[in-house]
Amino acid sequence: MALIVNGIEAPPPADPRVSLADYLRDHRHLTGTKIGCNQGACGACTVLVDGTRMLSCLMLAVQADGRSVTTIEGLGTPEALHPLQAAFVEHDGLQCGYCTPGQICSAVAMVEELRRGMPSHVTGDVGETTIAPTREELRERMSGNLCRCGAHNGIIAAIEDAFGLETAA
Ligand code: FES
Ligand code: FES
Repeated sequence: MALIVNGIEAPPPADPRVSLADYLRDHRHLTGTKIGCNQGACGACTVLVDGTRMLSCLMLAVQADGRSVTTIEGLGTPEALHPLQAAFVEHDGLQCGYCTPGQICSAVAMVEELRRGMPSHVTGDVGETTIAPTREELRERMSGNLCRCGAHNGIIAAIEDAFGLETAA
């Protein structure tokens, strides 16, 4: 078996106790994925597993066996930024940048969740299949990604811009 990491097959670690976050950083040398709390509270380690946002510090690498893992390195490169990466630069969505890879991975999957009509805690009618991407929805859906620099307003502005979301305050 193997994991597919950013489109490339990679063997799982021999030690089944290795977290996905440690595997990506230490075994695959993909240090874009950051570890903040290492206990599921900050979102810095967010990556996409089969397109779903996951906290890689809370997942074992062997649990991703046979699945497709996308890290920030797989979304864009310095030469060819993902539109959301470009929007983060444009809207000052980062200061120290430590939380940024997790914010971007999280937002990519979050917008898909929104478009698929998955309700959040603040969705008024959970039976609705079309959910308006209000600021309240975006803030709630990104609330698992903390930014200690306080760049949250720029982060929301970048998400709105990159995905063409018409939001109201
Ligand atoms: S490092 Fe995984 S949630 Fe904080
Ligand atoms: S930019 Fe510094 S933690 Fe978010």
